[in-house]
Amino acid sequence: MAKVKVSDVDFNNLGFEYMDLPYRYQAYYRDGEWQDAGLVSESTMQMNECATALHYGQTDFEGLKAYRTKEGNIQLFRPDQNAQRMQRSCRRLLMPEVPTEMFVQAVKDVVKANADFVPPYGNGATLYIRPVMIGVEGVIGVHPASEYLFRIFVMPVGNYFKGGLTPTNFTTSEYDRAAHKGTGQNKVGGNYGASLMPGEEAHKRGFSDCVYLDPISHKKIEEVGSANFFGITKDDKFVTPKSPSILPSITKYSLLYLAEHELGMQTEEGDVYIDDLDRFKEAGACGTAAVISPIGGLEHNGKLHVFYSETEVGPVTRKLYDTLSGIQFGDRKGPEGWVVPV
Ligand code: PLP
Ligand code: COI
Repeated sequence: MAKVKVSDVDFNNLGFEYMDLPYRYQAYYRDGEWQDAGLVSESTMQMNECATALHYGQTDFEGLKAYRTKEGNIQLFRPDQNAQRMQRSCRRLLMPEVPTEMFVQAVKDVVKANADFVPPYGNGATLYIRPVMIGVEGVIGVHPASEYLFRIFVMPVGNYFKGGLTPTNFTTSEYDRAAHKGTGQNKVGGNYGASLMPGEEAHKRGFSDCVYLDPISHKKIEEVGSANFFGITKDDKFVTPKSPSILPSITKYSLLYLAEHELGMQTEEGDVYIDDLDRFKEAGACGTAAVISPIGGLEHNGKLHVFYSETEVGPVTRKLYDTLSGIQFGDRKGPEGWVVPV
């Protein structure tokens, strides 16, 4: 794949697609320590055919973004939270942890090296940052590797769900992406492998993605594809599900904080029953890639439940979007430490 040049990129029409940019960061873990760390340009990697990442799923990743401010500066949103979540994923898969300081510095280094690709301020486009770790040692018994590769690469992106702030429809899936006490709360490759078929089935039927129900009873909403669910009740409470098989979304926890402390709303992390959607006047998906994507309608058992509207974003969802993205793009002051300059 040829390297992308800045002049090749149409910053006004970005989708959510991989691009091979000039620089990425990599570090090897060998003999119990991180070594050979630095920027490289090669996007392909070599590893043993029996690498644990390929056979036994020793692979986890993160997703965060770099934002261009009105003044032309570049900033990150809560990168320490991504570092900590990756450490938890690594602990779950018996992989080595990347210390928070090393993680955040490496993210800054890659973003700086590819700074020309951070989209201009104005239309919500950002530089998506993908840290990933894989077990690279050849191991044939089901055991963890002793050698790992940590990489961070980046690419400019626009909307993840094609509607952006225009609502789109979703459908529930009969499949589970993660088991109750499995790896759902960790950002590990296996969860995404399990989600490919249900996601494709939803896309083929014209939906943006599928909504996963809890793996025990299939009665409670868990995730919206690769994003968390939130609903706004008729009395303006921000509600989001809680379960050990949900990925703890940094965006969701930021919204819980902002809803309570900036917008004066009540908040609740608790059960969201699929048969009780009438309690919500608005609903949405939230995540780094999804940002805040309003859910127009949610199909379940052949019936489409429409929340606010299939065509217009609701006022509370818009307010949440403006508050969050205002902080991310530097137009509003956020809580101490949330924004980190590059
Ligand atoms: N849920 C899943 C399954 C995800 O892949 C993501 C993306 O990271 C999220 C939720 C949203 O998490 P965050 O807001 O930290 O990006
Ligand atoms: C993210 O929001 O960063 C994600 O990881 C979502 C998806 C592209 C896997």
